[in-house]
Amino acid sequence: MERLDSVPVLRLNNGYDIPCIGIGTFGSDRVEPDDVSQAVAGAIRFGYRLIDCAACYQNEKQIGAVIREALDEGVVTRPELFIMSKVWNDRHRDVEAACRESIADLQCDYLDMYFIHWPFPNYHAPHCDGDSRNPDSKPFSVEEFMDTYRQCEALVKAGLIRGIGISNMTIPKLNAVLGLCEIKPAACELEMHPCFQQQEQFDYLVREGIQPVGYMPLGSPRRPERDIFDEDIADMQLPEIRAIAGAHQCHPAIVCLKWAMQRGQIPIPFSVHNYRANLEAAVTEPLTDEEMQVIAGLEKNNRLVKGQVFLWPSARDWHDLWDEDGVIVDCPDA
Ligand SMILES: NC(=O)c1ccc[n+]([C@@H]2O[C@H](COP(=O)([O-])OP(=O)(O)OC[C@H]3O[C@@H](n4cnc5c(N)ncnc54)[C@H](OP(=O)(O)O)[C@@H]3O)[C@@H](O)[C@H]2O)c1
Repeated sequence: MERLDSVPVLRLNNGYDIPCIGIGTFGSDRVEPDDVSQAVAGAIRFGYRLIDCAACYQNEKQIGAVIREALDEGVVTRPELFIMSKVWNDRHRDVEAACRESIADLQCDYLDMYFIHWPFPNYHAPHCDGDSRNPDSKPFSVEEFMDTYRQCEALVKAGLIRGIGISNMTIPKLNAVLGLCEIKPAACELEMHPCFQQQEQFDYLVREGIQPVGYMPLGSPRRPERDIFDEDIADMQLPEIRAIAGAHQCHPAIVCLKWAMQRGQIPIPFSVHNYRANLEAAVTEPLTDEEMQVIAGLEKNNRLVKGQVFLWPSARDWHDLWDEDGVIVDCPDA
């Protein structure tokens, strides 16, 4: 296929349409910014319209240059693109300036979605190792989160962003903040792949009309060292996924993406080498109901991004970040 012009879209609660699949841009500390941006350049020419960026991926300048080139060459128009970025944890008190920097770097005039990347201001340095701790890290606070969120609401009103996204949330945190939002979040980015489906949070978001966006949809086989643990399971190696791939004569990655789209989440796979096949997954033969059920049964609670680098000094371990007992851990004001 030369170019794919017919990727289906979903309607968000703010009235805008979003493509049902996008390209991720986190190089996982392994792929250089110029190589990521070259993939994005090729992806736009092939038909991708949704690009998931973030300031902390440290490649928005390079991606902005290829977006500008595609616009200048008439490959796409700005309204045809859906560009997302995220405010990094060290800019929660300074959201407008951070947003303006991302817009300038991405050369895109406005953002279609701006995510609060993590729900607390805890900062870790890029490329840090898994044991690194920042003594300034703090547990989640409703007041601090809402202060950051209010700054995002102001960005919508100022026309700098069209939608607000949240990311790496939990149900207790959603319960604590959603009632306080004047502008409802339009999307929530969370880790989702066959071995980690987050069914409860997925259902919650759908009920609330907030679009789930699934990160690491392939189980991120080349994720950073700090996110690799002995007990992790490789989604694409599972015999059930491989058998379904065999039946469709496709790569297991394509099975994971079809499952994600048919379930109703938007996958944002990163790829330098395989982005064409990934986009085609949106329009080729769907999985059967039986295959969808088999994959639903593969849930193994295998969270890959444990987030241990964001722990505050009194936290026990990474489980504290995810409110597994149904209450926000150590929250001063829940
Ligand atoms: N909100 C958050 O906190 C958060 C956290 C993590 C990630 N994200 C976002 O989610 C995106 C996706 O996550 P990710 O990049 O970690 O993992 P991923 O998309 O699950 O996996 C990417 C890896 O899979 C390989 N791959 C892609 N398509 C393939 C195919 N068809 N066949 C075989 N291999 C394939 C890629 O290699 P090739 O390049 O060789 O194809 C790459 O190494 C990120 O890029 C980022 O935008 C957000």
